[in-house]
Amino acid sequence: MEGINFNQIGLSFKGSGSYVPDQVLTNQKISEKVETSDEWIKSRTGISQRRISGLGDNVTDMGYKAALKAIRMSKWDIETIDLIVLATSTPNDLFGSAPSIQAKLGAHNAVAFDLTAACSGFLFALITASQFLKGGNFNRAIVIGADQLSSYVDWNDRRSCILFGDGAGALAIETTNEFDNFIGFEMKTDGERGSFLNLPSKNNKDSIVDNIDFLRGGFSPIQMNGQEVYKFAVKEVPIILDKLLKKTNYVSGQIDWLVLHQANQRILDSVGDRLKIPRDKILSNLKNYGNTSAATIPLMMDEAIRNNIIKQNDIIATSGFGAGLSWGAALIKWG
Ligand code: COA
Repeated sequence: MEGINFNQIGLSFKGSGSYVPDQVLTNQKISEKVETSDEWIKSRTGISQRRISGLGDNVTDMGYKAALKAIRMSKWDIETIDLIVLATSTPNDLFGSAPSIQAKLGAHNAVAFDLTAACSGFLFALITASQFLKGGNFNRAIVIGADQLSSYVDWNDRRSCILFGDGAGALAIETTNEFDNFIGFEMKTDGERGSFLNLPSKNNKDSIVDNIDFLRGGFSPIQMNGQEVYKFAVKEVPIILDKLLKKTNYVSGQIDWLVLHQANQRILDSVGDRLKIPRDKILSNLKNYGNTSAATIPLMMDEAIRNNIIKQNDIIATSGFGAGLSWGAALIKWG
């Protein structure tokens, strides 16, 4: 920790970036498609509108634009980036979209790969990158969360289509031997409850030749048990954050900002209440973007950093949660 003789590898946060597509889908517009209303959606979720990628922006494009902004803020020479981790569940190439982002950036010296953990994806990617950096093999990493769930939403299912939007966010992180602003983390999964939220494969039987069948790949739309996911989030997120605070010898009063995965305002408020964190410390922009899956946390952080809400040395407790089921938390100091 700062002030102590520090002889290990610590991390410093150097930049943030985000990108959302131009198309705006308001609650009012959704109500032209399914039986719902602006009032119902706002009161149950806090969401007013979301952004939808049209033909122009896929995950690679959005992730690239967010990463480039984070790199510009960090003032890094692109050649000095060692690692790019892209959290996404909706790559535009199932073999991985991170290397395409690497190529677009011209980050010739980086290794880039995808990581899939749905709405916990950014948090899991951040933790993954932190361990590579602290392991001493790499010095500079870009962690990206980007998702295009609009391609997989059932736009006739009013119980789920109201929630999701598209976007991307990124953080630039580097090693330092002077302090450690990556204070601690926790992560968990529970596959036994995985059926609460899925984007399952839908394979159509086909034949290669006589008697040799195969399944042609594809996906069914998102399937969600909203009530169970809600109960999971409001129960598990406070528990994991509390565990992390105890492990790192912090108390909730020391948290400057709670940056939760932006799923539903009622979830954010409930988690804050359970941790006794005042509402004005809970950052929220889901009104404008809905749930952008792996993108919500860096999108929220970037907005707050650029608006000078999150300042140097602020303590941020962040938590991602979602399909898997998966959830996790990290405690960081900005800067
Ligand atoms: N508009 C109007 N009515 C709707 C509706 C919509 N968009 N969606 C559902 N309803 C109706 C239901 O049909 C039901 O009607 P009924 O009582 O006549 O059967 C009623 O509203 C209540 O449905 P319910 O599912 O109990 O609503 P809810 O209060 O749980 O809210 C969610 C639904 C999806 C908003 C809420 O469960 C939620 O946010 N869950 C978490 C989902 C999430 O965050 N997922 C991503 C995690 S990463």
